[in-house]
Amino acid sequence: MAAQPLSFRRVLSANVVALAPAYGALAGLYAWGALAGRPALIAGAGVTVVTVLLVQRYLGSLARFARFVSELSDVQEPVMPRLSFAPATEELASAAATLAMGWRRQRASIDNLAASAQAIVDGLPDPLIALDRQRRVVRTNIAARALLGAIAAERDLSMTMRHPELLAAIDALLETGADGNFTGPDQTAIEIVLSGAPELDVIVHARRLPRAAADGSLALLVLHDTTALRRAERMRADFVANASHELKTPIAGLAGFIETLRGPARDDVAARDRFLGIMAEQADRMRRLVDDLLMLSRIEQHEHARPAGEVDLASVLRGVQDLLQLKAAARKVTVELAIDPSLRKAVGDYDELTIVFQNLIDNALKYAKPSTTVRVAAQPAGDDQVAVAVSDEGDGIPAAHLPRLTERFYRVDNARSRQLGGTGLGLAIVKHVVNRHRGRLDIQSLPGKGSVFTVTLPSV
Ligand SMILES: Nc1ncnc2c1ncn2[C@@H]1O[C@H](COP(=O)(O)OP(=O)(O)OP(=O)(O)O)[C@@H](O)[C@H]1O
Ligand SMILES: [Mg+2]
Repeated sequence: MAAQPLSFRRVLSANVVALAPAYGALAGLYAWGALAGRPALIAGAGVTVVTVLLVQRYLGSLARFARFVSELSDVQEPVMPRLSFAPATEELASAAATLAMGWRRQRASIDNLAASAQAIVDGLPDPLIALDRQRRVVRTNIAARALLGAIAAERDLSMTMRHPELLAAIDALLETGADGNFTGPDQTAIEIVLSGAPELDVIVHARRLPRAAADGSLALLVLHDTTALRRAERMRADFVANASHELKTPIAGLAGFIETLRGPARDDVAARDRFLGIMAEQADRMRRLVDDLLMLSRIEQHEHARPAGEVDLASVLRGVQDLLQLKAAARKVTVELAIDPSLRKAVGDYDELTIVFQNLIDNALKYAKPSTTVRVAAQPAGDDQVAVAVSDEGDGIPAAHLPRLTERFYRVDNARSRQLGGTGLGLAIVKHVVNRHRGRLDIQSLPGKGSVFTVTLPSV
């Protein structure tokens, strides 16, 4: 702060007060005849000069003191001024400085407390918003800002979240009666949908604090993202519906044939043989479906536990080739194995990897054009992986289907898959086994040309 000049009026009135007794005494002496006019005037002038000087110094010290005290509340501690002409002010100034230091320390610890409160709130993984009595946003954490974007502080919540049900529930939470007591419940949960891409299902847990916090917070909102949970629920429901639907068709077929064999076709030997053949096929289909479902659930159950065996992929692939020999011959498709001699063993489970390649090569055979070749190539991929690619010359798969191909019961051509005896679970099983092996499944396909399914696995 720059030194301000002393005001003339203050200087004048201080001088008048200080000089009055001396002037009074001199005037009295002169009137009494004890002092002649000239010496009285000389004495008066001397007293005036000394007094004006002293008063000037004294007022200067006081002004510096006042400035020092007013600067004590600034962020920077002021320098103690020289106050030699007013010793009492010097003591006052050091007392004020001590007081100010105490305040400063206290303010620092309050700032620290506020910062650690915010750090704790920011550390919470769930989005949190604190509101005051008027429903204004007082505090938010990092998760809330990440979810909702910039949140207007000290503004009504409706500026950030425009969900009428949510706002109404919070109003009920904060509502007070004529006596000033809260009338509503002290906590509530509201389900809302946050628009955006993707849309999010969110449960807002709102809770009123017993009394307002120092920053004015009275209600806390914690947002809980339930989108993944909802999706899993939906998937489970879809799965049960799909599985029952898949079983219903062959059961209805069987029931129909049994009815026919009991009634109109009772004595028709030729029809009976034909129907029994179809019935055996349907029963077989149901058995396959149940087997696949059981396998899927078994693999899912221990999907998090990574298998640790050492598997010779060449032997797995030769085994599968033998197993599918008849089917390949029936469709006039050749299965060709190309195994890199430097191929290392894969880390995994022999039986599960057999299922993977059985499914992939079976698909290749099923969807290949007759008299073509299915190529199975196994080779190292990088330092610590092996890749097995199964390619066919079939109809291929339109790109739009690729992302969903490994979903359970997902088929590109439903009728064709059923007619070929497929359950639509093969690739779902492959995907789960590969995941359990911490491997990768890549699908490339050119419609009209064929498809390549590549499994990459960690090697020993
Ligand atoms: N090599 C392939 N060429 C073309 N389409 C394929 C190929 N492999 C799979 N598909 C498509 O992907 C779908 C899903 O395959 P998936 O193996 O899961 O079922 P599926 O073969 O029909 O039945 P299954 O459970 O008996 O294997 C198939 O219905 C088919 O439409
Ligand atoms: Mg299949």
